[in-house]
Amino acid sequence: MLDLPSPTPADEVAHGTSQPVAPYFDAVLAYGLRGPGRFHVPGHKGGPGADPALRHALGERAFALDVPQDIHGIDIGASPTPYEQAEALAAEAHGARRTFFLTNGATQGNHALTLALAPLGAQVVCQRNSHASIVDGLVLSGGVPTFVQPEVDDALGMAHGVTADALRDVLAATPDARAAFVVSPTYYGMCADISALAQVAHEAGVPLVVDQSWGPHFGFHPDLPASALALGADAVLTSTHKIAGSLTQSAMLHVNHSDRVDVAQLARALRLVRSTSPSSLLMASLDAARRQLAVHGEALLHETLAAVHRTRAKLATTPGIVVMGPELVGRPGVADWDPLRIVLDVRGTGRSGYEVAEALRGAYDGNVELATAATLVLVVGLAESAVALERVAGDLDETVKRIARGGDEPGPLVRPPAAPPAHTVVPPRDAFLGETEPVAIEAAIGRVSGESIAGYPPGIPALLPGERVTAEVVAYLQEILTGGARLHGASDPTLATMHVLRDVR
Ligand SMILES: Cc1ncc(COP(=O)(O)O)c(C=O)c1O
Repeated sequence: MLDLPSPTPADEVAHGTSQPVAPYFDAVLAYGLRGPGRFHVPGHKGGPGADPALRHALGERAFALDVPQDIHGIDIGASPTPYEQAEALAAEAHGARRTFFLTNGATQGNHALTLALAPLGAQVVCQRNSHASIVDGLVLSGGVPTFVQPEVDDALGMAHGVTADALRDVLAATPDARAAFVVSPTYYGMCADISALAQVAHEAGVPLVVDQSWGPHFGFHPDLPASALALGADAVLTSTHKIAGSLTQSAMLHVNHSDRVDVAQLARALRLVRSTSPSSLLMASLDAARRQLAVHGEALLHETLAAVHRTRAKLATTPGIVVMGPELVGRPGVADWDPLRIVLDVRGTGRSGYEVAEALRGAYDGNVELATAATLVLVVGLAESAVALERVAGDLDETVKRIARGGDEPGPLVRPPAAPPAHTVVPPRDAFLGETEPVAIEAAIGRVSGESIAGYPPGIPALLPGERVTAEVVAYLQEILTGGARLHGASDPTLATMHVLRDVR
């Protein structure tokens, strides 16, 4: 039997009266369906101008609700407009001072955060295996990163979070740093010790920014990790679409009640990386997803967690598979874990994660979020179907039994997903905007990269613009390419060539 849940901020919100409404969604719905004169963009005019097959596929209503910015009664008119109310309700649900809706994913949030907190020439401390959008943001802003390394489990090739000690050391060595950027949870659902990291950052006088893209559901059930905002982070990104039911590309950026992050400056930066035609469908989906999470999230998660526990137990009986999770908590860089990520160590099958994923896809059309040399990661949604979870456990069992090589065969080669340590020669912006030339990959070794190259998934750059290209990093990229990963950001996806800086040696 589960322990009785203790009240969380989300409980208090849900038990209030405000969360069951979705004002922006309702306003868009009302406008879309009442047949107004639509003498404005978009040119499909709520449907008639769209390709009939597309209209049929997406449904008439998707077009009716696809409305532009600046419509009276939706996002202009008496304040608070439905749009302002929707962002305020999201802030209330997440325990934030201010929440911004994002229509270009958490990527947009990282771009805005770096523009606001790491302006031209400003020093910041960043987790080295942050999502590519952090360094891309520094290319836009001209901020200068000093990297803090995450803890890495070499045997599994799995990077965890950064420790408070590691952050303290790097901040001490970077006295002019203006902010610290970390990631929690990781792609594998492992959470850093955010309270300790916040304390370290605040002692150094800088805000802690947490990329909690993979944890939009945190804090909404007592058996899940607390949200980084509740643990003291100053700004937090949640990629709502990843787990919590909104449409792909929709996310949220939250700022807490401390005054370490200037909300006006952040709003200004957000305008720079936001279309003047943000999608009403994406924003309505955020409003509705927030309502569902705040009002029904705990109950839905309760059912989903029960199904996950059954699935984990079933997967644990498959020979050669180890279901990972709580046993990692307490290792350096892991303070908590997210049960909505099912992480499987497949080394005991004698097959790589890439091979198991491919066999599962080929035989059962089962498509996983991430495969690495040693692991598979299955992402579970807020209200995952229990039947689908049970089915994938059975499908994986059959797949592994069919392709396993047996214990005597050598296991797959395993490498850390974070590339070997890199040496920054020039800041990302200078390198990205500098003059580059394509050279054969062998000739690139020893030169300075003009590109950001990440193995995808998970999209963590192994090489950043401005870093020295080493033989190790080239070998690493070639190996993950051979293993089945794609290279995100590489000018030559086969890595036969790459761009290096022409004038920097
Ligand atoms: C840690 C992290 N941050 C940011 C992003 C970008 O999120 P989005 O796809 O919502 O732009 C991702 C995407 O996988 C991610 O893993």
